[in-house]
This record gives sequence, structure tokens and C-alpha cells, in this order.
Amino acid sequence: MELLSIHQIISKMIQIPKGILAADESTPTIERRFAAFGIDCTPETRRFYRELLFTAPDIEKYLSGVILFEETLDQQTIDGVYFAEFLLNRGILPGIKVDQGTQFLVPGSEEKITKGLDDLAERLSVYKSKGAFFTKWRAVISIGKDMPTERCILENASFLAKYAKIVQEFQMVPIIEPEVLMDGDHDIQRCAQVTYKTLKTVFQEIEREKVDLTGIILKPNMVLPGKVSNEQTSSDEIAKATLSCLKSVVPSEVPGIMFLSGGQDSNQAIENLAKMNKEKNLPWRLSFSYSRALQFPVMETWRGLEENVKSAQEVFVNILKKASDASIGVWGAKG
Ligand code: 13P
Repeated sequence: MELLSIHQIISKMIQIPKGILAADESTPTIERRFAAFGIDCTPETRRFYRELLFTAPDIEKYLSGVILFEETLDQQTIDGVYFAEFLLNRGILPGIKVDQGTQFLVPGSEEKITKGLDDLAERLSVYKSKGAFFTKWRAVISIGKDMPTERCILENASFLAKYAKIVQEFQMVPIIEPEVLMDGDHDIQRCAQVTYKTLKTVFQEIEREKVDLTGIILKPNMVLPGKVSNEQTSSDEIAKATLSCLKSVVPSEVPGIMFLSGGQDSNQAIENLAKMNKEKNLPWRLSFSYSRALQFPVMETWRGLEENVKSAQEVFVNILKKASDASIGVWGAKG
């Protein structure tokens, strides 16, 4: 397996005009997503679907990396090549989700804390030996009545920083994902306040743990109104609010910010990214690390049927091309 330094991995991850595919849905999550399109969920359908994504033509033009789930790291193409090796041969770096989901912060609370620090070091040496170059840890922050609490933000931020420190000790790149959820009827200002506070705390904890800022990728939410808010917000306003929040809190040493899509539809998530990238001379590379926005249209076309594989792959490549264009500020190109 190729050996790369943290900074070599980073420079591949933030390559222009590419982004990252998050294909790291845990088994219960992908089961829910498949069910919405009437697709059976078995180890083989999951393997087959991931093969559909990874073998689509030309994806290496648009993807610098793919985040895998543990199960997929042990799976192979139909021709018997491990997916991590297959992706690397295409010039795409494989990464791995290393958190182990969430649990309630305290009994009776609605807030969540992410699990997985206890045996992280042991797991990392295994993931690295299986070909992973980078990792992801997702923390979730909910907005609601009396939420988020200071404790929820601080404990999640502290775990993200501890995770990042351990990952860098293994010469791998940590993707730090503090996600402020879109659920709720809050307005965009409330999302901006909570996102600011969350990121501020994350960077304080990162400093406390002496994480190398030049060796991380931040994966934040965009600043948006809640999913059931009555507010109508344009992509220009979302881009402006998101950039203003990030500029006020993300140190310029951070090389890359690669957004999650968070439940926005594909076009919205892609257009917002394009609008942000209209602004030149930002200190960080801004791109995508989407799961749902890249995959829902693919699942919808595939529906678990062999005869739909080719058209599903075409849909996938078209969306990737649009997302890649958005990562250089282009939106609405004919393709
Ligand atoms: P979404 O783009 O669907 O929000 O997923 C990104 C991700 O990796 C969640 O952890």
C-alpha cells in the first residue's frame, strides 16, 4: 500500500475541481435509504450498489476521495478486487467512517453524543492496513427548545478534537464533521448562531488538543433555515450567511472545507456551493463531501434492478460533474 504523509493526503483530497463522496452509511442508515426506493438491504445488495457507484465511468475526474463504511472496506468488486484498492487504482483515495454512531448525551435528553473513542487507536491500525488514508467522525447538534445545550456542544467538540489528534498520530487525515441539523422550524439566523458557537468550540478544543490545523478537513453544515421553517431563502443568502460564519471562525490554516448536504435536495446543495465559490481568494478550498445529495437520484433510478445500472451510473456521473463545477463556482453549465 502506498505511504503518503498527512500533507500529501490533504493535497490530494482538496485537488481542484474534485470533491468527496460520502458512501459510508452505516447498515441501519442504508437500509432506511434503500427502503424508500423499495430496494432489499442485504450484504450483497449493499456490495452491488457500492460497486455501481465506484465503477461508474470518469468518476475520478470529479472525486478525490470516497468515505467508506467498515463493511465496505472488507468487500470486493465482482472481479475480486477490494474496493479500497479498486478506488486507489482509479486515483481516488479511500477513507473510512470511524465513529460508531450516537447515543443520548444523558438519560432523558434528546441530545446526542458520538461514540467510538475507546478503541479508536486499535481500529485505526486495522483500517490503515486495509488501505484507508483518511477518516470521518460526525457529531450532531440539534436546534430546538432549550437546545443545543452548552454541554452537548462542548462534549461533542472535545470528542472531535480528541479523535482528530489520535488520527493524526496514525499519519491519517481526520475529517471533522460537526453537523448542526436542519430539522426544525428555526430561521437562518438561529442556524448561523448555533453553527458559529459549535465551530468556535470545536476550534478551541482542537487548539487544546494541539491538533495540526494544516492536517484536517472540516465538514460543516451550510447555514440554512430549518426544514420546516416558513422562511424562503435564496442560494445567494445561504452562501452569504455560510461564508460569513466560516470566515469569522475557521482559521485560515485549515486547508479544506468540504460540506455535508444535510438533507437538502441535490440541486440546492450544489447551487449553494457554486454560489459560495463565486467568491475568489478564500483562504480554504471549498468543496463537497455529500452523501444524500449525490446518491438519492442514483438510488431512485437504480431501484435495485440490474437493467437500471447503466442509467443509474449516468445519473451519478452527471450529478458529480455538476458538483465538481460548483466547486469552481460554476452553476447551470449545459452537460
Ligand atoms: P449528507 O450529505 O447526506 O448530509 O451526508 C454527509 C455525511 O457524510 C453524513 O455523515
